[in-house]
Amino acid sequence: MKKFGLLGSDVSKSLSPSMHTANFKSLSIEAAYKAISVSDFKAIMPYLRKLDGFNVTTPFKETIIEYLDEINNECIEIGAINTVKNINGKLVGFNTDGIGFLESVNEVCDITNKKVLLIGAGGAAKAIYHALKKFNDDITVCNRTAKNILFADEYILYKDLKDSYTEYDILINTTPIDPFEIKHDMSGKYVFDIRYHTNNVFLEQASKNGAKAINGVSMLINQGAHAFNIWYGKTPDKKAMYQGAVNGFLKVVEDSVSEQ
Ligand code: ATR
Repeated sequence: MKKFGLLGSDVSKSLSPSMHTANFKSLSIEAAYKAISVSDFKAIMPYLRKLDGFNVTTPFKETIIEYLDEINNECIEIGAINTVKNINGKLVGFNTDGIGFLESVNEVCDITNKKVLLIGAGGAAKAIYHALKKFNDDITVCNRTAKNILFADEYILYKDLKDSYTEYDILINTTPIDPFEIKHDMSGKYVFDIRYHTNNVFLEQASKNGAKAINGVSMLINQGAHAFNIWYGKTPDKKAMYQGAVNGFLKVVEDSVSEQ
């Protein structure tokens, strides 16, 4: 049986295990996918080397690079990875966040000729920036910490953004927080957030103010589908992945209700 996992600081509520497990089951593949929450991954590198592959999430997408044996060329430019494949004992890094997000944008709107505000400057933001840049040159990155946005051609800090978020056609939140309050008319705009759990105040405010608000479920499925393709060289059953993610979400809700 092949073994896969998701590495992150707190992945206990991640939908990736249920999503990938559902796909393995649908395609009759004997494989397991487990969430691995650790505060520091360095000590468990020998364990990670025994896996056939793994995904990487917050906050290790950038720092894991130096512990891998190889990364594909695009990841060198991006500076972040989210998918690792064990190829004959070598850990090779890939990034499927950018293509996964691009596909989810293309499901709802045309990215070209739009003013984009990309919020955040972590590994996911860098991958998305790189993917969108191929089709759109008008991308401003907004972040809390100035030194982290230097990869972008155009950038702004929250303190300078104020109400000028209304000037953008597409807002994309890649941070784990609600980055600022949306309180002005956003009719005709698109607001994406790569988070996929409920209680998303940012998207609620966007929707209340007339924007089309899109959460991270579709990106989750798309980036996961590309990760599966890297591991197996096969097309996944995306419907099964979606159903697996939905079942995983219901389980998270059930667990949180029973904890109360
Ligand atoms: P990744 O995309 O690699 O998973 P992350 O750790 O989830 O990264 O998120 C990193 C981004 O979220 C950064 O833009 C970070 O801002 P800084 O560069 O200023 O650190 C942002 N972020 C995380 N927590 C934040 C907070 N409490 N307030 C504002 N921004 C935050």
